[in-house]
Amino acid sequence: MPITLSVIKADIGGYVGHSSMHPNIIARAIQLLDEQKNKGTIVDFHVTHCGDDLELIISHRLGNDSSEIHKLAWDVFVECTNVAKELKLYGAGQDLLSDAFSGNVKGMGPGCAEMTFEERKSEPIIVFAADKTSPGAWNYPLFKMFADPFNTIGLVIDPTMHDGFVFEVHDVFNDKNARLNTPEEMYDLLCLIGASEHYIIKNVYKKDGTIAATTSTQRVNLIAGRYVGKDDPVMIVRCQSGLPAVGEVLEPFSLPYMVTGWMRGSHWGPFMPVSVNDANPTRFDGPPRVIALGFQLTNGMLIGPRDMFADPSYDHVRQKANEIADYIRRHGPFEPQRLPLAEMEYTTLPQVLNKLKDRFK
Ligand code: F6R
Ligand code: MG
Ligand code: MG
Repeated sequence: MPITLSVIKADIGGYVGHSSMHPNIIARAIQLLDEQKNKGTIVDFHVTHCGDDLELIISHRLGNDSSEIHKLAWDVFVECTNVAKELKLYGAGQDLLSDAFSGNVKGMGPGCAEMTFEERKSEPIIVFAADKTSPGAWNYPLFKMFADPFNTIGLVIDPTMHDGFVFEVHDVFNDKNARLNTPEEMYDLLCLIGASEHYIIKNVYKKDGTIAATTSTQRVNLIAGRYVGKDDPVMIVRCQSGLPAVGEVLEPFSLPYMVTGWMRGSHWGPFMPVSVNDANPTRFDGPPRVIALGFQLTNGMLIGPRDMFADPSYDHVRQKANEIADYIRRHGPFEPQRLPLAEMEYTTLPQVLNKLKDRFK
């Protein structure tokens, strides 16, 4: 019987400011999911955080988009929001865009990555979670893992990977998606996903259709005229035996590549791979962080996690990220530290233009 892995996340209140998560929130989420596990609704779970985002990692048998699972996650977020409100944590309930649940968390604020598959003889998976960035942040590493032979030597020397992979790309502004094959259509793929705020990789499959990776990219959610699916994202990647090895899945993060987000969601910054203990972005509300939790999925049980970036081999990446942060911060309000006008989360431009309208001659 297939197993489903659902990673559902929301920012339901920060401690302190937008920097981290209060331990009482994690404790409450664990308590609630434990009840569901005892009832048999879910098989297993793990609760963690990346910055101010609460991450619920749940295994179950109810398939993708199960309203029962989504409702259960929603209820956890609502209960945890109550804890956040009691503590007056910052932005309590900020990601719950509605008062009432309507069947699926997508479009209601929380982010969600799900995949359903037959568990293999051994099933190593890695769950990634990020803070202070947006879903396009996974484009670069997914391309590296599944299509770049300089990252993934398995594409060259493993006969079970040599055929390449299929990328499902969402055009998030026009609510359309397309599947592209690699290596055949690699240049077309790069032409799209290099614009990572517009074309976002949702899924990666083996050529036989087996799911390999999925992200919390959501189809366009235009609420009040704004695209609101843009949020601190999560991703699930299956590893080994015909898929990239654990080390090939982690290798893209040896470059602190630039992502959008950081302070006020309006800046470029280096993506810093950290342990869960270090996933508390403070400098200028950043720099953006990514954590990686490894599990062996065993009869649906999440054996783990192993904190994959708690490894000295990423020390120099973090060091490099700090150097890049120093450099780009010096630009202050100038691009390219600050995002182009259309992509900033905050803007005063309309008011400024209005105030100055008679001064432009
Ligand atoms: C970025 C983020 C923070 C806030 C910033 C201002 O995603 O969450 O950088 O944007 O701390 O927050 P407010 O407007 O709530 O004071
Ligand atoms: Mg927040
Ligand atoms: Mg966040």
